[in-house]
Amino acid sequence: MARILVVGGGSREHALGAGLAAPSGALDGGDGSGARAHELVFAPGNAGTLALGRNVAVAASDVDAIVELAEKERVDLVVVGPELPLTLGLVDALAAKGIRAFGPTRAAARLEGSKAFMKDICKRAGVPTAAYAVFDDAEAAKAHVRAAGRPLVVKADGLCAGKGVVVASSVDEACEAIDRMIVGAELGDAGRVVVLEELLPGEEASFHVVCDGTRAVPLVAAQDHKRVFDGDRGPNTGGMGAYAPAPIVTPEVAAEVMTAVVLPTLRAMADAGAPFRGVLFVGLMIDAGKPRVLEFNVRFGDPETTVLVPMLDGDWFALLDGAARGDLSAFEAKTKPGAALAVVMASERYPATPATGDAIEGLDAPAPEGAYVYHAGTRREGDAVVTAGGRVLTVGARAATLAEARDVAYAAVARIRWRGEHHRSDIGHRALG
Ligand code: AMP
Ligand code: GLY
Repeated sequence: MARILVVGGGSREHALGAGLAAPSGALDGGDGSGARAHELVFAPGNAGTLALGRNVAVAASDVDAIVELAEKERVDLVVVGPELPLTLGLVDALAAKGIRAFGPTRAAARLEGSKAFMKDICKRAGVPTAAYAVFDDAEAAKAHVRAAGRPLVVKADGLCAGKGVVVASSVDEACEAIDRMIVGAELGDAGRVVVLEELLPGEEASFHVVCDGTRAVPLVAAQDHKRVFDGDRGPNTGGMGAYAPAPIVTPEVAAEVMTAVVLPTLRAMADAGAPFRGVLFVGLMIDAGKPRVLEFNVRFGDPETTVLVPMLDGDWFALLDGAARGDLSAFEAKTKPGAALAVVMASERYPATPATGDAIEGLDAPAPEGAYVYHAGTRREGDAVVTAGGRVLTVGARAATLAEARDVAYAAVARIRWRGEHHRSDIGHRALG
């Protein structure tokens, strides 16, 4: 039995905790609150992770406090959920104290932390991605867009919690975005350098590989739903639901992603002196069977993790600990049969100005067979569980077919309610028609 510190407090961390807590391969739906294989501490966790272990009120991005906590708790492994502590060097700071951690070093986390760095690595590695140019001067950037004569995608170089990408629909809109980022400094330092990219057509997918520096273990391909409303309308969010497997990622596409994207990227990172350990989340755009990279993330997707965890036929501890040790040679990734689908239940006014503090009802109602509930923005208040963020719960199911997983997941959603709750009713629509 290992002692594990899970850093973060979203449905990603609740799901990873459930995968880690379950005896090898035993998580078959369910929230993992049954028998525990390992001892878990969450920082900061949420009301759901209390069923799996202890919560300690330390912010995920407080690097010094997380290192102190890991030392005090004498943990065998730290699993880092979100990107910010990774780009701040949490894994390096833990390594300096001799503490093993799952996640890339600060240098390797630049694959997500700097879009200019990411594009440079793709170029060096010959990875298929959108053509691009990098600017720190607004006039030069706008001249580039005008010369192109078509709207380009404007991306802030640094981390912006999902607010740094403008898929412009006109030349003027692209120029305005450039001015807001470089001149207006609306995104702070993160937007002082911008990447201008060609617009890629196609359908998106989320492809996760767990890496040990040289080897990569692919997980089942998933698809997220970024827009807040049904039919992919409304503003972008962190993700309103996910499902796996995503049929757009055929076995041929998956094989091409491994040979044309993942392995060359791992080689280029090693050559750059920043070997990549942790999970590489490849954001793909797939057009007529041809995958191109939209972005790299250096952590698990949320809500994607809530379908990846129940679909892995294997031991989550062996996978994450093997990556952290730098040796995944013995790990065999198998995917369970069937499909998983999960729906994000969000609070009133998410994503703009989410309401909090509303009591959640129905969490204790018996869930339908195969269904599970992972918490995100929740907090325990006495005997009640109340909303504490925009994305509140991710409610899902694993079943023999995707259609069945959807029906069971939505039956579980229907039992839970709070004032102002909203969710999409069409998760999985691209695969289900
Ligand atoms: P990113 O954070 O780079 O993934 O961008 C956020 C979202 O913007 C992606 O999930 C896509 O929907 C969209 N996007 C980013 N880059 C492009 C591109 N080159 N072409 C089309 N859509 C894009
Ligand atoms: N669901 C997309 C992300 O985690 O970035």
